[in-house]
Amino acid sequence: MGYAVMLLIVFLCHEVSSISILPHKHQTISLLKFKNTLTIDPSADTYYCPKPYPKRSSWNTSRDCCSWDGVVCDDITGHVIELDLSCSNLTGTIDSNSSLFQLSHLQRLDLSFNNFSNSHISPEFGKFSSLKHLHLSNSNFSGQIPSEISHLSKLHSLRLSSMFYFYDLRLTTHDFKSLLQNLTQLRELDLRLYGIIPESIFHLPNLETLDLSDNDHLNGYFPKTKWNSSASLIELDLSRVNFSCNLPESLGYHLTSLRSLDLEYCNLRGPIPESLSNLTRIEYLYLSGNSLNGTIPPGMLSLPSLKSISLSFNHLSGPLEDFKSNSLISIDLESNQLQGHLPNSIQNLVNLTSLDLSFNNFSGFVDVSFFSNFKQLSSLGLSYNNISLTNDNKVTLPESLHWLELAACEVKELEFLRSAKKLQQLDLSNNKIEGRIPDWAWSNWMSSLQDLNMSHNMLSSVDSIPLQSLLTIDLRSNLLQDDEESNSEFQSNFRKAALMGYGSGLCIGISIVYFMMSTGKPIWFARIIVELEHKIMMRRRKKQRRQRNCRRRNNH
Ligand SMILES: *[C@@H]1O[C@H](CO)[C@@H](O)[C@H](O)[C@H]1NC(C)=O
Ligand SMILES: *[C@@H]1O[C@H](CO)[C@@H](O)[C@H](O)[C@H]1NC(C)=O
Ligand SMILES: *[C@@H]1O[C@H](CO)[C@@H](O)[C@H](O)[C@H]1NC(C)=O
Ligand SMILES: *[C@@H]1O[C@H](CO)[C@@H](O)[C@H](O)[C@H]1NC(C)=O
Ligand SMILES: *[C@@H]1O[C@H](CO)[C@@H](O)[C@H](O)[C@H]1NC(C)=O
Ligand SMILES: *[C@@H]1O[C@H](CO)[C@@H](O)[C@H](O)[C@H]1NC(C)=O
Ligand SMILES: *[C@@H]1O[C@H](CO)[C@@H](O)[C@H](O)[C@H]1NC(C)=O
Ligand SMILES: *[C@@H]1O[C@H](CO)[C@@H](O)[C@H](O)[C@H]1NC(C)=O
Ligand SMILES: *[C@@H]1O[C@H](CO)[C@@H](O)[C@H](O)[C@H]1NC(C)=O
Ligand SMILES: *[C@@H]1O[C@H](CO)[C@@H](O)[C@H](O)[C@H]1NC(C)=O
Ligand SMILES: *[C@@H]1O[C@H](CO)[C@@H](O)[C@H](O)[C@H]1NC(C)=O
Ligand SMILES: *[C@@H]1O[C@H](CO)[C@@H](O)[C@H](O)[C@H]1NC(C)=O
Repeated sequence: MGYAVMLLIVFLCHEVSSISILPHKHQTISLLKFKNTLTIDPSADTYYCPKPYPKRSSWNTSRDCCSWDGVVCDDITGHVIELDLSCSNLTGTIDSNSSLFQLSHLQRLDLSFNNFSNSHISPEFGKFSSLKHLHLSNSNFSGQIPSEISHLSKLHSLRLSSMFYFYDLRLTTHDFKSLLQNLTQLRELDLRLYGIIPESIFHLPNLETLDLSDNDHLNGYFPKTKWNSSASLIELDLSRVNFSCNLPESLGYHLTSLRSLDLEYCNLRGPIPESLSNLTRIEYLYLSGNSLNGTIPPGMLSLPSLKSISLSFNHLSGPLEDFKSNSLISIDLESNQLQGHLPNSIQNLVNLTSLDLSFNNFSGFVDVSFFSNFKQLSSLGLSYNNISLTNDNKVTLPESLHWLELAACEVKELEFLRSAKKLQQLDLSNNKIEGRIPDWAWSNWMSSLQDLNMSHNMLSSVDSIPLQSLLTIDLRSNLLQDDEESNSEFQSNFRKAALMGYGSGLCIGISIVYFMMSTGKPIWFARIIVELEHKIMMRRRKKQRRQRNCRRRNNH
């Protein structure tokens, strides 16, 4: 018995050593050859990279390649099974004869966040028959995705998308269909497509993540039957896919595991189905930028796991029901036709960091103390409703505020902003603020404020402006005197601000000092405008993009 065991051990060791030494040598050579076909551009304008990059300094021939950073070998066979060269500033191309393709046992290959200079993805990628994870996103590949990709029948995750709009990787609908037929193990799919989404994508039985977002040329239909992926699907992002239909009821019945649903700008219309209230695991629910109408189903505001909801830029109407989802962190209902009083239950959402109700038809008096519970509030928008902001209890808004839009809220004084020293965007236009802006306000705003809109008020003088980070300031339609003498200090400050903005614009690519006065055009102002000719531009509302980016980061 003992003898038999010993023999077996000897035999195994022999096997292992004879298999493992040889591949290492070949693999080392292949890896080094591959590395040498690419160059490292240390000045590469690296895109936002979500994880630390592997250290190339460990790629040292005096060490076994299996110990190199980013390389993983199989314990028993010694074959390289994982190669991670993401975020490595690599530039160059991967031709069909690349030694990369000699690493035929790869199960995971990650080349994302590099710069393969618009080259094509070689059909040879289809020969990695053991591959489970292929990540080529954000690496500047372009052109047709080879149909051979559909040979990778063991793939669990395939990421081919890019955050650049000019990115140009295409898969024909035909190839996509065969890909879906063969890749039945897919759990995560993230790519760009043209044409029409084949319905079969919704029936991949193991799918957990489907991200076809930002496909401007993609049309889609929701399946009429039960989705085969419905039990497994956790994250569904189809934003900007053109569905041009109603949101199907079935969405809420079947997708019971869903944690994140993003259907923004999908050309959806009609009511929000009540069945969405069945998505009890949902944390992120984004339906902005559609033509959804009717009321918000009350159950949606009671979803037990909901963290972030965005229904902005739709045609939703009616009053808001009580919020019972106390897990909520972010609420965006901007630009709808919602009306009535703000429900008091909002005050229970103690973890709220962002609340935007601007451009609706909400009404009534809202006291500043309404927001006292929100110790982490960062964004607040109430602009353009029929709301009158009062401050009967003489309290202040939380210190954590960065973004505040209170246009047309009947604001009369600024005392409630005394604690807010981190404001970056402040819109108090179309209010009833009189006299001069107090010194404490300027000093609060001095170091962080970027955009200030106090137009359409009754300010009579402005004697300083916060210079350090200001990008836009709008003081139109006040009672300001624009005579050159009485405003000379202000004028010289403004000139400094303007030229500084221009100067920094050269460095950072954004040059915005945008300023307007109420009456006429003082000569000095006209002069500055000429100096800055073409350099002054209006910044688009960054909010949407900021939120998107934020979300991207959180999801990846
Ligand atoms: C890539 O380039 C960036 C910016 O030049 C640099 O900060 C980073 O360290 C580089 N990464 C590698 C892996 O060389
Ligand atoms: C990508 O590589 C190409 C050519 O190798 C180079 O011209 C281009 O500037 C690089 N792009 C970036 C963002 O570094
Ligand atoms: C490779 O490793 C050896 C020993 O670990 C070290 O002496 C040598 O400097 C390394 N070479 C490089 C290029 O890092
Ligand atoms: C690979 O093929 C390209 C042309 O397709 C050629 O330029 C290159 O020299 C070849 N590289 C090797 C290592 O054979
Ligand atoms: C992609 O590659 C092309 C061609 O080399 C280059 O001009 C471009 O700058 C690259 N883009 C990025 C984002 O690296
Ligand atoms: C499916 O994959 C196998 C190899 O795994 C390949 O031979 C076959 O052509 C693939 N089918 C399609 C439709 O691509
Ligand atoms: C869903 O799965 C079942 C059982 O696996 C299968 O018979 C059916 O064809 C699938 N439906 C679709 C539309 O793929
Ligand atoms: C979306 O699809 C509909 C119907 O297919 C079409 O009429 C409409 O023009 C499309 N919208 C966009 C923005 O492509
Ligand atoms: C889903 O919601 C609808 C309408 O709110 C309800 O009638 C139905 O019973 C719910 N189904 C499940 C499975 O919870
Ligand atoms: C929603 O819009 C459709 C037209 O797209 C209209 O027929 C319907 O009456 C609207 N519903 C409500 C509640 O406004
Ligand atoms: C608020 O956040 C804290 C910390 O993350 C958590 O413990 C608490 O349960 C949250 N409150 C609610 C009402 O969800
Ligand atoms: C706004 O709400 C009021 C009732 O509070 C209503 O009379 C009015 O028609 C609504 N306006 C719009 C544009 O919906």
